[in-house]
Amino acid sequence: MSRAETVTTAELQAELAAWYRKNRRSLPWREDPTPYHVWVSEIMLQQTRVEVVRDHYLRFIAALPDPAALAAAGEEQYLKLWEGLGYYSRVRSLHKAACRVMEVFGGRIPSGIAELRSLEGVGPYTAAAIASIAFGAETPAVDGNLLRIFARLTAYADNIRTPAAGKSAEAYYLQLMKASDQLAGGDCNQALMDLGACVCVPNARPKCAQCPFAAVCMAHLSGREEEYPREPGRKARRIEDRTVFVIQTDGRTLLHKRPARGLLAGMYELPNTAGHLAGTQAAAYVRSLGFEPVRMRGLGEAKHVFTHLEWHMTGYAVFVDEACTDTLQLPPDLLLADSAEIRDRYSIPSAFSYFTAYDNIKKPG
Ligand code: ADE
Repeated sequence: MSRAETVTTAELQAELAAWYRKNRRSLPWREDPTPYHVWVSEIMLQQTRVEVVRDHYLRFIAALPDPAALAAAGEEQYLKLWEGLGYYSRVRSLHKAACRVMEVFGGRIPSGIAELRSLEGVGPYTAAAIASIAFGAETPAVDGNLLRIFARLTAYADNIRTPAAGKSAEAYYLQLMKASDQLAGGDCNQALMDLGACVCVPNARPKCAQCPFAAVCMAHLSGREEEYPREPGRKARRIEDRTVFVIQTDGRTLLHKRPARGLLAGMYELPNTAGHLAGTQAAAYVRSLGFEPVRMRGLGEAKHVFTHLEWHMTGYAVFVDEACTDTLQLPPDLLLADSAEIRDRYSIPSAFSYFTAYDNIKKPG
């Protein structure tokens, strides 16, 4: 009989526990997993990589150490703290939820799944992650990592992005979690998250030689790891070409405040427009904003990936006539800001980071 046929679920949990003891990533929210710390980190991690979250998390917790501080914070402060993480609606929801924690739950983050789900921005995955990591509940937190591992372990033949697949994965992990007490619920979830991030990786050949489940993994045993997870019909992202402008005069840079609704709502951005403009078209665009270009140079290309959209950007640095700006009445959604103001006050989404790196416009000179 093969190992796949004889191994017990308790043995599998023990192997995962041994792997986690050796390979566990040291992450700041893991070292002091209070409900608030776990909640903030989980919201940050929803669509952002661990390496980017680490520093933002530390700054956010230092500035807003508990639900009361977050509830009392103003929009400009929490948007600034979120700068670089993207998907800003997450922090607006986090703020609303903190207000609810204060008003309804007396400042204490609840432990029950239903109460957690009543908080803005907390879906089934996040509720399970908080309940298990902060409160020790035996509740699988099934995210993309856990779905992918499950799909490979069981050679799941159907679309993995369906409610039925999610339920099967949850049942599978619940058994694994309850089979032994080597790993508590939160640690079991986090061990699986680390395994998914470091070993059973997406969009690449998984590192099966390092995997504690290799002996029982159906995809691995049949040499078909890369055929799973199956996600037929996953929509391709829409691609938009844009031209981005770093328009400067007298040590200040032109910013545009985006509309209150839609993509990157209410954020400040470098002025940009649809299409990849050639030099003369770019100069005409700058004039249409009321400025006279004096010097212009290309800044090269950058790409930013949103959930359903990719921006393929090209950019120009443009020095404009100072005399002109003295008399210019800017419309309310445009402003000129110096580098200290940009660093301390205005949140520019990371979609623009390639262009804001130009001339250190975020750092005081
Ligand atoms: N991704 C989401 N939550 C995580 C956690 N607690 N640890 C590591 N990666 C994660």
